[in-house]
Amino acid sequence: MAVTEASPAATGMMALFLNAMDRYVVIGNPVAHSLSPAIHARFAEQAGEALAYERMLVPEGAFAEHARAFFAGGGRGANVTLPFKVDAFDFAGEKSERARIAGAANFLMARAGGIFADNTDGAGLVGDLQRNLGIALRGAAILIIGAGGAARGVVAPLLGEAPARLVIANRTPARAQDLARRFAPLGRVEPCALDGIPAAHFDVVLNATSTSTRGEPLALREGLIGPGTLAYDMAYGPAARAFVDHARSLGAKASDGLGMLVEQAAESFQLWRGKRPQTAAVLSELRARTG
Ligand code: ATR
Repeated sequence: MAVTEASPAATGMMALFLNAMDRYVVIGNPVAHSLSPAIHARFAEQAGEALAYERMLVPEGAFAEHARAFFAGGGRGANVTLPFKVDAFDFAGEKSERARIAGAANFLMARAGGIFADNTDGAGLVGDLQRNLGIALRGAAILIIGAGGAARGVVAPLLGEAPARLVIANRTPARAQDLARRFAPLGRVEPCALDGIPAAHFDVVLNATSTSTRGEPLALREGLIGPGTLAYDMAYGPAARAFVDHARSLGAKASDGLGMLVEQAAESFQLWRGKRPQTAAVLSELRARTG
């Protein structure tokens, strides 16, 4: 908002108002591209809540000192994006069960006892698949491609929906095997190499590799993606376009991860403010804006 020629009294009032507003940030590096401030501004409008939500660029290796200063200065909460999700988890004194399982946090909140960490990414993905895209995960055959941080954050919530089958394929098969072992107490996960994906039908194929954000091609076996498959890229916008367009050209339904971003934000907003935002309108506005 631009304020021109305000009287000192009005400027003082404005400063008081801004100081009184609860402050939230999204912390990342890079972070300039983040849509989180726009999403939370819309949620706040919907809920009639006055809050400030800004981007916070933090140098790599300096997460803790910046987060400490933000909360010491009265900050109420933060979303955390790459590359700081493990730092955010380590930073918090209290952690939710789902953050512990993922070993990473995208959510921090100041509470009476200290800083609380949670992970709303998995719930965001499940919400987008089921509510926005109409995919029934119960009994579905799901393939996750990739075994890095993005994959690790979504395995438990997907297992929680009782799929018939959950396969993790990774370029480095040992990392897929590690994930399968890690999540074994929660359900069966089948690890394999990228060139060893079972010759079966998958209802959902999730690209959780960093190929889209790096602009690298992802070679998958013929017939893996086609009619009857939802091909989903956890990246969003132009980064995900090659994967999404390719899947559509093969006759599949396809989506980028914009809905996951909006749904994880809604989950965060509810935890912070106790009000559940309506996501559909916000998602379609962003789709119109980001193409
Ligand atoms: P993120 O937090 O985004 O998941 P990460 O932890 O570095 O990032 O993991 C990147 C994932 O993308 C890994 O599964 C990686 O495979 P490797 O474990 O073999 O490295 C996968 N990946 C990256 N580039 C890839 C490529 N060109 N082809 C296939 N998989 C790739």
